[in-house]
Amino acid sequence: MVITKIHAVFFSATDNTRKITAAIAAAAAAALDCPLEETDLTLPAARQRDWAFAPTDLVILGTPTYAGRVPNKLVPFLAEHLRGNGALCAAMVTYGNRSFDNALSELCAILEGDGFHTVSAGAFACRHAFTDELAWGRPDSADLREAEQLGKNTAEKAEALTAIPAPVRVPGEPDAPYYIPKGTDGLPAKFLKAKPVTDPRKCCNCGLCARICPMGAIDASNVFETPGVCIKCQACVRRCTRQAKRFEDPAFLSHVAMLEANFQDPKQNEVFF
Ligand SMILES: Cc1cc2nc3c(=O)[nH]c(=O)nc-3n(C[C@H](O)[C@H](O)[C@H](O)COP(=O)(O)O)c2cc1C
Repeated sequence: MVITKIHAVFFSATDNTRKITAAIAAAAAAALDCPLEETDLTLPAARQRDWAFAPTDLVILGTPTYAGRVPNKLVPFLAEHLRGNGALCAAMVTYGNRSFDNALSELCAILEGDGFHTVSAGAFACRHAFTDELAWGRPDSADLREAEQLGKNTAEKAEALTAIPAPVRVPGEPDAPYYIPKGTDGLPAKFLKAKPVTDPRKCCNCGLCARICPMGAIDASNVFETPGVCIKCQACVRRCTRQAKRFEDPAFLSHVAMLEANFQDPKQNEVFF
């Protein structure tokens, strides 16, 4: 098939998904000698409109894994505001060294439902947003090389196609239940309502956290308040230049401790064609 443009499209609160999506897309663009366009869906403003693609596009679409699936607050946008129009697509999820469970399967199903044709898919292990102790330093140079290889192989597959491909097969079930986070006691850790707290000795009220919150949840005029929905993405915690934000919720901290105790062994990236 003739491909005339590559798109890197991603939601990425703490930058892992952007890095992998961009590496895949850059390699695909180089292989096909095509222009590359980046669409960052992380901020609410980018999700207020439709994004339409063309049959001659190859779209690399990346999301993180949250609770074993595509972040639930992102799903309505992905399902209702992306128009594939027959574009070819590579689906990619990152995950924090526990498991991507059903996230890739769900993402592929959403994209096929949007009118994309999935030609490849990948799941990449990256530093967990909750803690540096899981997959610290990833994506590293080896991960980025694997991402580039996926981009090159996807481009070659897309170029060689003479008919619409069958959807790529990936592990998992698109409608499976969400992963239930556990605490160190093995019981469900209920931290749905947890919100970041702000250290008044460190915060200079610069407003960065409010500007970069993917949910627009933090009050820009008083960043000590988070009146909106917090998805625990850690954008504010990780990007505050003064380390003024943290989560203190005991159930959240117990879940992080459980992850640190049980999911240290490095996971391998997986690709599917
Ligand atoms: C709310 C939340 C839930 C998560 N759930 C999982 C999970 O079920 N399995 C896993 O391995 N990693 C999980 N992670 C880790 C992220 O998938 C991982 O850090 C991802 O690379 C973050 O992407 P980003 O840097 O683009 O935001 C979770 C992270 C967050 C913030």
